[in-house]
Amino acid sequence: MNEFITVNNLTKRFGELTAVDNLSFNVEEGEIFGFLGPNGAGKTTTLNILSTLLEADSGEVTVDGLDLKKNEREIKSIIGLVPQEIAFYKNLTARENVTFFASLYGLKGKVLKEAVDEALSFVGLEGETKKRSGKLSGGMQRRLNIACGIAHKPKLIVMDEPTVGVDAKSRELIMHSIRTLRDGGATIIYTSHYMPEVQEICDRIAIISSGRLAAIGTETELLSYVTNHKTVVIETENTDEEIFSKALRILGTIPGVSHSSRQGNENIIDLDVDLTFSNITPILGTLLDCGISVRSIDSEAPNLETTFLALTGSELNKEETPHV
Ligand SMILES: Nc1ncnc2c1ncn2[C@@H]1O[C@H](COP(=O)(O)OP(=O)(O)O)[C@@H](O)[C@H]1O
Ligand SMILES: [Mg+2]
Repeated sequence: MNEFITVNNLTKRFGELTAVDNLSFNVEEGEIFGFLGPNGAGKTTTLNILSTLLEADSGEVTVDGLDLKKNEREIKSIIGLVPQEIAFYKNLTARENVTFFASLYGLKGKVLKEAVDEALSFVGLEGETKKRSGKLSGGMQRRLNIACGIAHKPKLIVMDEPTVGVDAKSRELIMHSIRTLRDGGATIIYTSHYMPEVQEICDRIAIISSGRLAAIGTETELLSYVTNHKTVVIETENTDEEIFSKALRILGTIPGVSHSSRQGNENIIDLDVDLTFSNITPILGTLLDCGISVRSIDSEAPNLETTFLALTGSELNKEETPHV
């Protein structure tokens, strides 16, 4: 994969406050890149710098091989920003809004009309095009906000908390549309302080805390920074002590299993396995060979929430994610 964005030592201060603090990372072409951090971490400030809305105090940024300081206009033309705050005109219709934003990028005539139709149906608003934008439901307004940002078919889409306050249906639609945009070749930066979404759709994730990069990688890589293990929990039918001990001994020799133990006198076995362990066939095979019936088998992987806490020392702020 090619590097699409490189950010080196980016810093932005607001008076005494350093909102972005010597931040470096890269985004690869064609990925959904998650930008995860609590409120106030510096996400919006960073994205506004990348989108040329805000100037950094220091640091270098290149987008698609172009230097941000020297090629502001070109970079602007390949970016679609879906801002954190709803940014369209409430008195215009949905169609008028998308037409206005797409025309800012030079689209005209038939091409413009087609791009607007496509963007509106892409976010599921084809039936609402004549309604005044301010009268649309909260979820529809969020979807319209996306349509305004993507109608000109940007190579890079920057989405700043696009699902805050949306209903479940709109949320699903937005998640689906982000994947479709990626599959169509766009590179996407997706910002959220809502963990499950980031886990669901992002190819790689950067964890930002107090304007700094705490960690970057795939979900598995991030988890492995904190632990290399997960637990497999197996519930069995009643079994006598001797058979149980024998099974535990054999289970402990399966490659990838580092420890096997019984939960007290319960018919429950805990296996400590590698984070990447996924093939349970040898586990089931061993239990069957020993004559033990399995009731259930479950895996308890460390979650990103725990990892986030370990890496940043703070929890993601949950009360400001009013997901329905
Ligand atoms: N224009 C501004 N003037 C002063 N402080 C700002 C401004 N924009 C953001 N900040 C501050 O910078 C920090 C980072 O903000 P922001 O980038 O919006 O974080 P996030 O998007 O991660 O919630 C916060 O402490 C915020 O209050
Ligand atoms: Mg923000």
